[in-house]
Amino acid sequence: MTRPDTPFETSLLALAEQVEATLSELLDARPRDGEIARPGRLIEAMHYGALNGGKRLRPFLVMESARLFGGDEKTALRVGCALECLHSYSLVHDDLPAMDDDDLRRGKPTVHIAYDYATAILAGDSLLTYAFDIIAAPETDLPDSARIALVLELARAAGIGGMAGGQALDLAAEKAPPDEAGIILLQSMKTGALLRFACEAGAIIAGRPVEDRARIRSFGEVIGRAFQLADDLLDLTSDAITLGKAAGKDAAKGKGTLVALKGRDWAEVELTRLVDEAHEILAPYGRAAEPLAKAARFIAQRKN
Ligand code: IPE
Ligand code: IPE
Ligand code: MG
Ligand code: MG
Ligand code: MG
Repeated sequence: MTRPDTPFETSLLALAEQVEATLSELLDARPRDGEIARPGRLIEAMHYGALNGGKRLRPFLVMESARLFGGDEKTALRVGCALECLHSYSLVHDDLPAMDDDDLRRGKPTVHIAYDYATAILAGDSLLTYAFDIIAAPETDLPDSARIALVLELARAAGIGGMAGGQALDLAAEKAPPDEAGIILLQSMKTGALLRFACEAGAIIAGRPVEDRARIRSFGEVIGRAFQLADDLLDLTSDAITLGKAAGKDAAKGKGTLVALKGRDWAEVELTRLVDEAHEILAPYGRAAEPLAKAARFIAQRKN
């Protein structure tokens, strides 16, 4: 997103600036207590992979979910930055030659092109680990029980039963195309799990009861489906300049996507249906949930 066209995009851009300022501080060269040193080339590659113009949609969801439930905004920003480190790691590794083999990300050469393969692997490893550091650190001002809940939920969203597991299924799907249920499962893992975490994190930060956590989690699941459907549609219909990453790759690699299985027209109708479903889930929160409702629409209608 370069120039904001709507009030929602303006607010997303404002949050992105806050995220970039905080990430830049978190990823400076100064070793923290207990760290021995921050090797220059590695921290530079982490910086390059994380501070390179992403939309920062996941931190936006953490922030707006925390606002909806009355959680502390400074804490939500830190948790959003932790999630963004983890998401950026997933992109650095997703682009590696052994995975999607992409040269362009967020409009710039991917980390393994700008640096080298080993540095990209280690920058990814370090961004992943740093996400948990940021949440567990005392500067994340929360009761221990909430910090532990965030660590646990993020671990489960990112690991074998979440994003990384979904990436494994995604690669397997290139060889043995899954059916519709198989695609929905792999996408709920590779993409949905982190978006679901983003939404639930706000309720955890605010110390809300299980009913709110469950409701906002299901909102996260629905927008997660919409998010990957839109990503797959854009891969088919857009171009590398607009996307800041390669287009037309999914069909070329035989990726298991719903767009490939059910077609573009179906995907467009399904996106509208998913946004309506997401809005219905938020209905009990009334106007207070408007920023999240707009985020759902943005996810479905975004251009990159
Ligand atoms: C791209 O995520 C990867 C997927 C999960 C499909 P985003 O579209 O949120 O990427 P950035 O962070 O804005 O670059
Ligand atoms: C990747 O999905 C999801 C991740 C876990 C990174 P894609 O492979 O479709 O994401 P893009 O299109 O490269 O951003
Ligand atoms: Mg991929
Ligand atoms: Mg990819
Ligand atoms: Mg894609």
